[in-house]
Amino acid sequence: MKLNSANINVMVKACRKASKVLIRDFGEVENLQVSIKGPGDFVTASDKRVEKILIEELQKARPTYSILSEEIGKINNDESFKWIIDPIDGTANFLHGIPHFAISVGLERDKEIICGIIYDPIKDEMFIAEKGNGSYLNNQRIRVSSRSKLKDCVIFTGGPKHEAENRELALKEYYNFSSKVLIPIRKMGSASLDMAYVAAGRSDGFFQRNLNYWDIAAGIIIVKEAGGFVTDYKGDSDYIENKTILVNNSRVSKEMAEILK
Ligand code: IPD
Ligand code: CA
Ligand code: CA
Repeated sequence: MKLNSANINVMVKACRKASKVLIRDFGEVENLQVSIKGPGDFVTASDKRVEKILIEELQKARPTYSILSEEIGKINNDESFKWIIDPIDGTANFLHGIPHFAISVGLERDKEIICGIIYDPIKDEMFIAEKGNGSYLNNQRIRVSSRSKLKDCVIFTGGPKHEAENRELALKEYYNFSSKVLIPIRKMGSASLDMAYVAAGRSDGFFQRNLNYWDIAAGIIIVKEAGGFVTDYKGDSDYIENKTILVNNSRVSKEMAEILK
């Protein structure tokens, strides 16, 4: 691993510690599938347990940094540094015993993401990036794919929360997102891993509306440092309006933006 700044070490340590509990709880969730009550309450408690460990570890090492975390919200401190945490991204998968979810932690300095970690504890895959130092999957440097035609790509999306409100938009986005171009679209159920997979060249793009900052904070730096683009749906700016995000290998950005605009 070439990334060994002090902040990266803090993030790795916190993720490794929290992941022990996450893996143990995932085993229990699998058992609970057959119980009458189901695993719902247990998963909520697990989310909080994982979050607590992450926050404790991060605060121990960096007591002055602010925090934005999905379950507990904001902890205000020194606003120039902020951890952005999603303790379990892919909760629906976790709840159903599907082994595809991750811990996601980003670090912001003066409103810019400078470090990110996305850790899939089941596959033991740790995606890490730090500004200016590239992106890594475990010890290997990763790069986005080089596919340049959407018809050859695999594109991820997620959601949907607005599907019922706008059927036409939903169909466009989630099944075929243009009547003319047929693209293999996948819904894997974890926005952070969707972004990590684009960074690793496994998928060529990802797009979604209505995301929260903790879903994408770590992914933003991991994709950028792997040579990918992170924009809004227009594809021509770095600004992520309403957390609507378009991520890609940079070669299909125009074609994707053209379809999504
Ligand atoms: C969700 C996942 C999912 C995305 C949703 C997110 P959660 O996060 O990232 O892939 O489509 O919009 O809310 O609830 O599992 O942390
Ligand atoms: Ca999430
Ligand atoms: Ca979550």
